[in-house]
Amino acid sequence: MISNPINNGLNGIAKIPGDKSISHRSIIIPSISNGVCEISNILKSEDVMHTLNAFRTMGVKIDENNEKLLVYGKGLNSLNKPKKDIYLGNSGTSARLLTGLLSSQKFDSVLKGDESLSKRPMKRISEPLAQMNARIITSNGSLPVLIQGNKLLSGNINLKIPSAQIKSGILLASLNTQGETEITEHKITRDHTEIMLEAFGANIKIKKNDGKKIIKIVGQKELESKNINIPNDLSSSAFFIVSALINNNSKITLKNINNNPTRNGIILALKKMGANIKLLNNQLNNNEHICDIEVASSDLNGCELGPEYADLMIDEYPILAIAAAFANSPSIFRGLKELRVKESDRLKLILLNLNNCGVKCKSENDDLYIYPSKKYSLKKNVIQTDFDHRIAMAFAVMGTKIGPLEIKDSESINTSFPNFKDEFNKIGGNISWKIWL
Ligand code: S3P
Repeated sequence: MISNPINNGLNGIAKIPGDKSISHRSIIIPSISNGVCEISNILKSEDVMHTLNAFRTMGVKIDENNEKLLVYGKGLNSLNKPKKDIYLGNSGTSARLLTGLLSSQKFDSVLKGDESLSKRPMKRISEPLAQMNARIITSNGSLPVLIQGNKLLSGNINLKIPSAQIKSGILLASLNTQGETEITEHKITRDHTEIMLEAFGANIKIKKNDGKKIIKIVGQKELESKNINIPNDLSSSAFFIVSALINNNSKITLKNINNNPTRNGIILALKKMGANIKLLNNQLNNNEHICDIEVASSDLNGCELGPEYADLMIDEYPILAIAAAFANSPSIFRGLKELRVKESDRLKLILLNLNNCGVKCKSENDDLYIYPSKKYSLKKNVIQTDFDHRIAMAFAVMGTKIGPLEIKDSESINTSFPNFKDEFNKIGGNISWKIWL
């Protein structure tokens, strides 16, 4: 994919797809609830399709009707032993959440993934589950994992790594476990699982205390299905938001975007940098905050963000780094250790690619420093993505300013935003498959 410079800014209404995190949970939770769930606006991307296929493999009936997905759930113990290994492609969310759910089933199962997912850490989920008596055998700490379904023991789990995936895996394991499991989260992470479980009638109580969150969940209570209307994805929106901010003559609107306060750090960070962003029509939808976002070209200032931002916006640092490269002063983003274990080592790729684009930057102790300049001289116009969708989209945005940039292995974008190129071009972007002369 080639991202070419644009001259006349970005303008109009861009269609952002459904939220990826909520889409996964919209398949998983109704599959083990009672009744039919009608899902509107599900994200039809590769990652979500892997979760969907996993539940079909375990016997859940899932149909499509007029753009809606129907999930026919039959209760906590209704899943069948899968006849083959479950392949999850690139999807870390599916891997961590399913490991939790499957650890408390009556059957054994095997989870596999692509090359990138097979390098990602699974002990972060298998170890806390082992405290509940789960039997999970990893391959040197990664996928493939063999999950020997077992009767788990409830107890107290202290989350050492701030991760919604780990928390959600343990919550899903607890649903089928006798007694009360208590999970303590020391740093707040996205709470889509808790929100959906509450709506489906789980016996779940949440207390916040001194920046800590304590979740108590009593297992073996059957869940009742509800219809779900999935809001649009803030993480996918971020690529459009930053494009509009850094390109002159831009004004765009994004509708029905999930603005969940446990993951809207990108909005807070960009506003701190002086971004002209308006959040309009704030509402609640299935207990998720949604709003429309209006963005106009802005003169951005650099900023310093502490590690607390990382918990609220971990997926958005690649695109925030691009915004910082076009600010009037340097930026420091602190505490980015978790960026190293995402779909790629994102800290490494941000530094490598920014450097090739001529942007002065460095990392020290997992803090990222960016020193912007008024003009950049490209050292290399090929972007290495290691098949990471968010690195690919972030540097496609970079291309609008200093392109043409060739984005390698850009098919990874299908994991989260299959229409990215077309939607971007509809509002004035210039992404092509060959160099625009
Ligand atoms: C996700 C949680 C985050 C995020 C990922 C999706 C989720 O991972 O990076 O893209 O849906 O729960 P961690 O919770 O491991 O930080």
